[in-house]
Amino acid sequence: MAQQLINDTFLRALLREPTDYTPIWLMRQAGRYLPEYNATRGRAGSFLGLAQNPDYATEVTLQPLERYPLDAAILFSDILTIPDAMGLGLEFATGEGPKFARPVRSEDDVARLAVPDIDATLRYVTDAVSQIRRALTDAQGRQRVPLIGFSGSPWTLACYMVEGRGSDDFRTVKSMLYGRPDLMHRILDVNARAVTAYLNAQIEAGAQAVMIFDTWGGTLADGTYQRFSLHYIEQIVSQLKREHDGRRVPVITFTKGGGLWLEEIAASGVDAVGLDWTVNLGRARERVAGKVALQGNIDPSVLFAPPSTIRIEARAVLDSYGNYPGHVFNLGHGISQFTPPEHVAELVDEVHRHSRAIRATGQTQVPGAVSKT
Ligand code: CP3
Repeated sequence: MAQQLINDTFLRALLREPTDYTPIWLMRQAGRYLPEYNATRGRAGSFLGLAQNPDYATEVTLQPLERYPLDAAILFSDILTIPDAMGLGLEFATGEGPKFARPVRSEDDVARLAVPDIDATLRYVTDAVSQIRRALTDAQGRQRVPLIGFSGSPWTLACYMVEGRGSDDFRTVKSMLYGRPDLMHRILDVNARAVTAYLNAQIEAGAQAVMIFDTWGGTLADGTYQRFSLHYIEQIVSQLKREHDGRRVPVITFTKGGGLWLEEIAASGVDAVGLDWTVNLGRARERVAGKVALQGNIDPSVLFAPPSTIRIEARAVLDSYGNYPGHVFNLGHGISQFTPPEHVAELVDEVHRHSRAIRATGQTQVPGAVSKT
């Protein structure tokens, strides 16, 4: 039987069921903008020391929930755990982004790639998932909020695997995509199988929703995006366990810069689509016509503004979506490390307050309804 959830608003919104208010969580909610995160990272010695130790990972996952009444927890980890488990040698030099010691460049490198044995190489992640679930559970055996598991998309992982690090123009990975599409498809196929096994392992360990981060999908050309990113996301989604422990496990996908392809992404089999801040949320809701829930999409830079502005902008996002089920409030991308933590409290409070007001004054929530305007 499913464990009792004190707050299941997030899961209900993902399934487009009516809720009393709009749930909110923030991409990268446990991170460097929080002094307590930096303190734990100091004790762990490094970001990888933090992510690879289930005790530390549990501690930092809960930190934002101690500060703010967020409606979901997200596993503390990184998308680059998969290529690391494939043997590419992940490093995080202080003050720099991620780097791989052995990037995938040649035909031989590609031939050597294989789906890692999740249990042998990524046990620290599934252990963290089970430990976080226990930490979210009170003395009566009730869980505070649901736990989200995640992975990178095959294409986004390939960007780091081939470039060997972050990139401004993705020259190396796109040269392979156009010059040797056969090699690129082979990488993406291995990645898709690895992501499927990884997300299913997280679901088995207790993740109650899973999210696929396609951070670099929006750098692709129309047509290329569908063949080199969305196709592999569809392959993963069709093979995920969609029910565990007596509950539906919703799947969210987020393609940054993917607004133009919203209808196609919504038809990929996912329960919810994450949107960045370039998209008009009300029009997006009409475009998906009740087929999926939407997650997003306030500009993370709004959090640098004074509290009164943060509240105005939060209301604008909620008003744009309107009084319909199927909205999970989030940022349009990860929270910046320069965000003042007290500004996050203002955002969370306004989303809860104003969405309750919309429910009280607006029309009745009809699942899947589409406005006439
Ligand atoms: O949302 C959460 O709170 C869960 C944690 C999470 C992290 N990374 C922790 C992290 C999640 C969901 C990610 C996903 C991730 N990682 C993505 C996709 C989402 C996105 O933001 O676009 C990508 C592209 C990565 C790869 C990655 N990891 C980069 C490029 C960097 C360095 C840049 C940066 O922001 O520092 C990381 C490091 C990283 N992952 C940090 C955190 C909290 C900062 C590391 C530190 O503490 O120094």
